[in-house]
This record gives sequence, structure tokens and C-alpha cells, in this order.
Amino acid sequence: MSVTSISPADLHARARALVPGGTHSSTRARDPYPCYAQRAEGPWLWDVEGTRWTDFGMGNAAVMLGHAHPAVTEAVVRSVTDGLTCGTETATAVEAVETLRTMIPDFGLARFAVTGTEALMHALTIARQVTGRERVAKAEGAYHGWADSLWVSTWGTPDTIGPPERPASPPGSAGLSRAAADTVVFPFNDLPATAAILREHAADLAAVVLEPVLIDIGFIPAEPAYLQGLRELTAELGIVLIFDELLTGFRLEPGGARAHYGVTPDLTTYGKALGNGYPIAAVEGRADLMAVTDTLAGGPVQWVGTFNGHGSAVAAAAAALPILATGEPQRHLHRLTNRLRDGFVDLARRHRIPVLVAGLGGHFQPYFLPAAPRDYRQAMATHTERYLHLVRTAERHHLLLPPKALLHGALGAAHTEAEVDALLAAADEAFATDPTRS
Ligand SMILES: Cc1ncc(COP(=O)(O)O)c(C=O)c1O
Repeated sequence: MSVTSISPADLHARARALVPGGTHSSTRARDPYPCYAQRAEGPWLWDVEGTRWTDFGMGNAAVMLGHAHPAVTEAVVRSVTDGLTCGTETATAVEAVETLRTMIPDFGLARFAVTGTEALMHALTIARQVTGRERVAKAEGAYHGWADSLWVSTWGTPDTIGPPERPASPPGSAGLSRAAADTVVFPFNDLPATAAILREHAADLAAVVLEPVLIDIGFIPAEPAYLQGLRELTAELGIVLIFDELLTGFRLEPGGARAHYGVTPDLTTYGKALGNGYPIAAVEGRADLMAVTDTLAGGPVQWVGTFNGHGSAVAAAAAALPILATGEPQRHLHRLTNRLRDGFVDLARRHRIPVLVAGLGGHFQPYFLPAAPRDYRQAMATHTERYLHLVRTAERHHLLLPPKALLHGALGAAHTEAEVDALLAAADEAFATDPTRS
């Protein structure tokens, strides 16, 4: 039986019988069923019925150069025919780190992991070792993966998040260990309140983890003075500052948010675009901190993982990084994102609807708000029903937007003006037919 004869409804029923929720990551759930992709290329996905969709999710923004980028695919195919999977070091892994060093300002030492969650767990282990402290602080609303001590205050609801200047630490999931309750949460872009909280807990804090732009709740940039203030404060208090650049990494600039803002943290995590969709992540950081993982030289912190530096994943990274290093994909993505933002400004004016797109580097978030949000509390006020009407209207034109109101969209370098304009046309139709307007 050819794959194209399978109906997505049937596949979903089969999956539901064996897989909780029917998907292998909860955020992929869509109504009435997830997109069952059969093939992908450039900005497009073909589903199991052969329908071509324009992808505005791009693998949670990981596939920055576009699906099946020829150079990446060729490198991965070579690694596969060479039989390289895991368990050895490769010349390709060395090349990938060498290219990374040319891109990132103040590069120290780096080491590969598989997922962003794992990279952040490694970074926290280093921070605990060098400070002798235990606890972690993070910004309200930020997502840093699903490790217990970081999956806190993510997509919290008004009844769980506490007062704005002393946010609570609601767990992002049930079943987390006590480490989750120990996590300190501070309000993003509010330096006086953040400083008060960090000073109060300084003696216990190993690390502050920060996404320089909050992207898992749309697109909320740190104000430059906030980032600079946090850098100075953590240095003064002896707390390790970790930038989570899983999403900002390589999209804002080849050197990521660190280059964009001119602020250097102690440790940084990368992933996603690093392998253009193949599973690879990294921790980079100050040589004296990273050195604690050099067990060959007596470092006490272990760094292990069967799939670390996987043959196909490092091949993907070694092929993607030189292209990312040129800055051309970023310039193209900035142009496209600006076109989308400008288009939404025009649509908001014509339809008299409070909507805007925030974004940069191909990350984009339609917010149904009168002004761009500065923090999670402002972002969560977006009009969910209006966003879902936009998603459903776009789906009728085979344009695939993220299915949840604050799950940021993403363009890849293979998108063109044509795909952006198709999305703008769908938005025009959605706003003209918005059922929530009286
Ligand atoms: C900012 C950020 N940090 C960490 C993670 C976790 O990465 P992974 O899903 O590879 O574990 C994500 C994933 O969406 C992310 O967006």
C-alpha cells in the first residue's frame, strides 16, 4: 500500500490507540489531527494525502535554512553511507566546533549534546559545581526545556503566577521533583524587581538562565539595559549567567543574541538551527568554567551521552554552520520578517483590529494586542480566539501556522516574498471574517 493512500484521520485513530494523545510531542496536537508529513523541501511539507502545505513552524524554528537544504542533506547522506552513527569522535565534529568559534564573539570552549534540554542540564551542572550552590533563577514565562528545575513558570495561568513583582514558581507539568519548587522566578524586563529577588536569594543561586528574547511566548526582546544590568548583577553576586540561545542562536545574527546585544554570558546553550533540524545541541562558555567537564585533566563534572556528536547530526551542523556564518540567511530572514510586520501594520489599520507581528530573523508572532508586549503577563492577554480563526483561515489555503496562540511562527531561508504574501492574504481574509467582532 502506498503511503499516500493512508488518511490522516485513520493514522490519528491508529496512533491514539497506542500513543498517549496520538503525538510524540504534545505541542504537535492540532484539531482535528496533527499534520502527518510525508516529505519536506524548502518552505513546504507534503502530507500523507499529497497536499502541499507552506510551513510556518519550520520544526519549532529549528529548520532555519529550509527543509532538505541540499548541502545539509548531502552531508547527512554521506555520513549515512559511511555508516557513521554514534560512539566515536569524527573529523566532522571538530570542523563544526571550529566553525562555531568563528561565529560567536568571545568564544571559549564548547561541547555537544543532543537536545536543548540536555544542554541546559549540562550547563546547570557546571554552574552548581563552580559556585557550590544549588538553586536556579529564570524569567517568568520563559521555556527552557523540560528539566525539572527549569520547567517552571512556563505558560502559567492568572491563578498560578502570583503578583507581578514577586512571581510564583508554578510547575510547567505535574510529576516534577522538588527541584522545580526551588526555582526562583523573576519578572522579565523589570530590572529593579529582578535585582531585589536575585539579591535576596544570591547565597543559594548557582545560575540565572535567560533567553535574551522570550520566543516560546511569541517574541519579546529583552531591553538592552535589562540585559546589561543582569550581566553586571550576576557578576557582582557570583551567579553564573547562562544565555539560552536555542532559538535566538544564529537567527538574530550569526553570533546570536550575544552578538546582537553585545553582552557576553558565562555559558550559552545552542541547538535547533545548529543542525538545521537534526538533533544536536551545544554548551559554549568561559574556558575556566567549561574546563570542569574535562575529566581527562581531572575535571570533576562528567559529560556523557550515547548520541552526543552523532555522525549524522554533526554532519548536518558542519554543513549548516558555514552557510549561517555568511550572514546571508539572516539578512534574507530579516527582510521577510519586516515584510510580514509591515503587512500586519497595514492590515490592522484597514480592518481596525488591534493586531501586530513581533519578530526578527524569521521568528514571528502575531499578537492580538494594541502594543507589543514587554513580558509574559502582557503577552498572555492576546486574543486566543482571533488567533485560532487566523490559523483555521490559513489552513484553508494550506498554510500551516502553529496551532496555539503563543507558539511562535518561523520562516526559513527558503521562504520568499510569495509565501509571506500568501500569509498576509490569508490574514486579510481572516480579519474580514473575524467572528469575534460585533
Ligand atoms: C528557548 C528554548 N530552550 C530550550 C528548549 C528545549 O530544547 P529541546 O526541545 O531540544 O530539548 C527549547 C525548545 O523548544 C527552547 O525553545
